Amino acid sequence: MQNRYGKLASWVYNLDKPIGRSFGDQEYYRQRLEHCDDGPILEPAVGNGRIFVPLLEAGFPIEGFDASDEMLGYCHDECRNRNLSASLTRQTFEQFSYDKRFAAIIVPAGSFQLVTDIASAGAVLKRFFDYLTPNGRLIVDLDPIGSFIGQSGSVRSWVAEDGDLLTLTDHRVDTDYIAQTTLSHLRYEHWRDGSLMATELDLFKLRWWGVEEFALALQAAGFSDVIVSGNYQHGRPPQKNDQIISFEARRPEGVAV
Ligand SMILES: C[S@@+](CC[C@H](N)C(=O)[O-])C[C@H]1O[C@@H](n2cnc3c(N)ncnc32)[C@H](O)[C@@H]1O
Repeated sequence: MQNRYGKLASWVYNLDKPIGRSFGDQEYYRQRLEHCDDGPILEPAVGNGRIFVPLLEAGFPIEGFDASDEMLGYCHDECRNRNLSASLTRQTFEQFSYDKRFAAIIVPAGSFQLVTDIASAGAVLKRFFDYLTPNGRLIVDLDPIGSFIGQSGSVRSWVAEDGDLLTLTDHRVDTDYIAQTTLSHLRYEHWRDGSLMATELDLFKLRWWGVEEFALALQAAGFSDVIVSGNYQHGRPPQKNDQIISFEARRPEGVAV
């Protein structure tokens, strides 16, 4: 199974990107959601709650889902530690459902690129559209193409709370220029006093999008008023060396439900 975010992957994610860690996105989302008063907010692929928990703590009516029990476990723990009551469910991009609609749906951290099949991606965008209120907004961050085809083969490590060592070896094994996907082997290892305690291999697949291609996909799903921004400067069109590209689009009023 791909993009599993299992036990070690989730542990590493939580060490590397704890609650509140910002790449400029915490401030950006908070600002973009400031006057979003017409209903709840949804964060699909909420993960450990890096963005979700600070928004909930600040009073935003946000709910979330994720495909990984382990990632959701971290998010639940962080909410419990702060006495926050959170609406979190285990669901997927492809099949999520609610008995309500949202004033905004946010997908930070390039998570949408975990949907690697183009037909599924179109269906997910349509599902986002269906779960927005009229005038509701979808905000999605995508990593630029350069981050996919640059160098691969890194080794990183983290020291856990109890002194144990976690390592991640990232090895890209396939790049498909037609499907616009990369497949990487992410090998996680958990070491204690020089002994290997556990290891995990995540088959990690991502899809890259062209800027215009994604804007067209949003329009094909029914969205209007697509605004594309670079490096979290809202309304500033993306430039060559930007690290992140954000798309904001609106569900027009008057679309039959
Ligand atoms: C990069 S993390 C993002 C976490 C969080 N949104 C953030 O900004 O830090 C990606 C998340 O996507 C989840 N995920 C992967 N495939 C998914 C799917 N098909 N449906 C829902 N969530 C998925 C993973 O479990 C993981 O928690």
